[in-house]
Amino acid sequence: MSGKQSTISPDAAGIAQAAKILRGGGLVVMPTETVYGLAARADRADAVAQIYRTKGRPDFNPLIVHVTSLDMARHVALFHEDAERLAARFWPGPLTLVLPLRKGAGIAPAVTAGLGTIALRQPDHPIAAQLLREVALPLAAPSANRSNAVSPTRPDHVFASFGKQSPPVIEGGSCAAGLESTIVALDPEGGWRLLRPGPIAADELEAMLGAQAKSRGATFEAPGQMKTHYSPGKPVLLNRMQPERDCFMIGFGDIDGDRNLSANADLAEAASQLYSALHQAAKSDRPRVCVAPIPTHGMGQAINDRLKRAATS
Ligand code: TXA
Ligand code: MG
Repeated sequence: MSGKQSTISPDAAGIAQAAKILRGGGLVVMPTETVYGLAARADRADAVAQIYRTKGRPDFNPLIVHVTSLDMARHVALFHEDAERLAARFWPGPLTLVLPLRKGAGIAPAVTAGLGTIALRQPDHPIAAQLLREVALPLAAPSANRSNAVSPTRPDHVFASFGKQSPPVIEGGSCAAGLESTIVALDPEGGWRLLRPGPIAADELEAMLGAQAKSRGATFEAPGQMKTHYSPGKPVLLNRMQPERDCFMIGFGDIDGDRNLSANADLAEAASQLYSALHQAAKSDRPRVCVAPIPTHGMGQAINDRLKRAATS
């Protein structure tokens, strides 16, 4: 694919075309319920290398692998009881499990950045699900944006990030959740840790698994959780009750702005709007961005996590 931004329609012919590109070792951008993902077959080093190149991603930051079924996941990783329970409850869905990689699973080493663990999820989006069924291979897919930039929740965000060299994008409209999956690391010896807050709130996991493990053992590493991330390319000021001078104001609830994440103060709606608001702020002629305070409960934890990183740029 060179020099032209192309979309693929999500009908049977389009999915077949996308599957063919992926089987051949190429890249396709697919919609998921969280954000758009830059997909390649996870079993080929050359295909995976293209992901890192396209994103400008450091090679120590491992990728999430998407599976078509729990069965496929069990071929790639070692599932113990807690992993089975989480998958039964939350898959398909926005929960990524970090588990011990199975020896001989055939995953290209670059996918896991040489770690002994692998991050897996089964996405809950009809187009991603159909594509995975058709390809019938595990697909590595990080968010479809240049490294450290704001993740895409619409095809035009993907094109804004990758420019003319963008791989083809399967047209899937807006992503429902709008924030990347919750990532949980599970120690086979017992214990778990939240590596990235997301659409599935920590309280829900605690209710199932009990309290998080205190120590940060090797299993609990999250090498890609950089402080600087989700950057709109201009300063971001948080917890503002009103816009400061020259700011694009992102409001919430009663605090209005150039755009309001949710006038009804609904956190799920705010999450679904966050990245598109940051993309809009990036495009605006205002040199700075202000954001209203967002409550920290439920999905607010994930929203504040992303905002803090956006503001650290
Ligand atoms: O919702 C999502 O998860 C989206 C969609 C496309 O599925 N994907 C996504 O991928 O957000 P990415 O690459 O942007 O984020 C992957 C995160 C990184 O922070 C990385 O450090 C972590 O997953 N990760 C991957 N493998 C890991 C491992 N073995 N151990 C710990 N963290 C891992
Ligand atoms: Mg990302």
